[in-house]
Amino acid sequence: DWTMAAYREEKIAQIREQVGDAKVICGLSGGVDSSVAAVLIHEAIGDQLTCVFVDTGLLRKDEAKQVTTLFREHYNIPLIHVDASKEFLGELAGQADPETKRKIIGRVFIEIFDRESSKIEGAEFLAQGTLYPDVIESVSSSSGKAHVIKSHHNVGGLPDYMKLKLVEPLRELFKDEVRALGRELGLSDAFVGRHPFPGPGLAIRIPGEITPDAVATLQEADAIYLDEIRKAGLYDDIWQAFAVLLPVKTVGVMGDARTYEKVLALRAVTSTDGMTADFFEFPWDVLGKTATRIVNEVRGVNRVVYDVTSKPPGTIEWE
Ligand code: XMP
Repeated sequence: DWTMAAYREEKIAQIREQVGDAKVICGLSGGVDSSVAAVLIHEAIGDQLTCVFVDTGLLRKDEAKQVTTLFREHYNIPLIHVDASKEFLGELAGQADPETKRKIIGRVFIEIFDRESSKIEGAEFLAQGTLYPDVIESVSSSSGKAHVIKSHHNVGGLPDYMKLKLVEPLRELFKDEVRALGRELGLSDAFVGRHPFPGPGLAIRIPGEITPDAVATLQEADAIYLDEIRKAGLYDDIWQAFAVLLPVKTVGVMGDARTYEKVLALRAVTSTDGMTADFFEFPWDVLGKTATRIVNEVRGVNRVVYDVTSKPPGTIEWE
């Protein structure tokens, strides 16, 4: 794609011009946007860049490992991996309100990020994978979630105590363009094609209180769901697919015994920008196979349901 090749060169020149020989810190979330930003900036300024990956413990199964491997081994980009799952889960314990959960995660994230980045001496810039829709949402939307995205770590800049200047090389791009740029930079189709994932992660896919057990259960179920979607060749037809672990128990049978376990909801939507979405029309056999595997393989879940709500009036996430 010649336009992306040109864009890449233009951005690399701009980043060099903006940054000079200063050091840059990039907050890596594990998602596509911050990864593409980091690889682009690394190409521009090499080891002047250090990535800080605050691992909330609320990512999908194995995702933290995939990100650290990609950056350290494949790209050789200096990366500080902060395993902060205990801190996040500790602060979230006993909290059930969606907005409170988001605020806690945003606050703890900033605290840890600030603590870790202040160890990088002489840093003058902070790189973020902010996209054009993030910029637009933060100025125009009045919805609670968009506001939270703003006050979260995607847009809105820095807490006062971090006096870093921003580098945001993706600010003009839409999601599909970021993916094209990622491919241009040599990231695999599988990596750049990954579904969007919210900053608060699995915390907003466990309605009510979060426990380490609930997170582990959801990670297992979610991995099976995505595995079946990939095997059916449907992953790229879907904007986002994920499981939600409900705080509701129902009765089931397993062999001769009665079970009393949680319900898992499956969600999958098509969309172009996340602002509106339609529920995805799965072939029944894919849903059926997924449900059978989850109930058989994941302890603590004995019933699976599928969400057929579109946005609006529903949102994509459940919280
Ligand atoms: P909703 O649920 O509002 O989601 O239809 C629209 C898109 O935004 C993502 N989302 C978030 N992303 N922090 C994020 O970084 C958040 O708090 C948040 N809430 C929702 C959601 O996954 C979907 O792609």
